[in-house]
Amino acid sequence: MTYVIALPCVDVKDRACVDECPVDCIYEGNRMLYIQPDECVDCGACEPVCPVEAIYYEDDTPDQWAEYYKANVEFFDDLGAPGGAAKMGVIDKDHPLIDALPPQPNPLA
Ligand code: F3S
Ligand code: F3S
Repeated sequence: MTYVIALPCVDVKDRACVDECPVDCIYEGNRMLYIQPDECVDCGACEPVCPVEAIYYEDDTPDQWAEYYKANVEFFDDLGAPGGAAKMGVIDKDHPLIDALPPQPNPLA
């Protein structure tokens, strides 16, 4: 199992979650962040700190964002398990699901 980042992160990218993850498995794309499902240890530390409630345990992801499980997993199809997000910096891509979205409002701005 894994945690999943969903739509509320898109164009917001608060990054509070990154500081909480003990295994550095939250990777930054251009418009949102993605959790590497094989590196995530299901500790749950990231979920409560996201100010826009974008993070869910896989089985608790709201139905309307169910496809974000696939988006998080498939983001790593070509990256594999890099073993740490910090050294990767911003990865210059997003999942096609996110690429297709219009600009999203940022409730924190
Ligand atoms: Fe995104 Fe929330 Fe993390 S907005 S970067 S999932 S703290
Ligand atoms: Fe990391 Fe734990 Fe979340 S391993 S991605 S902080 S559930």
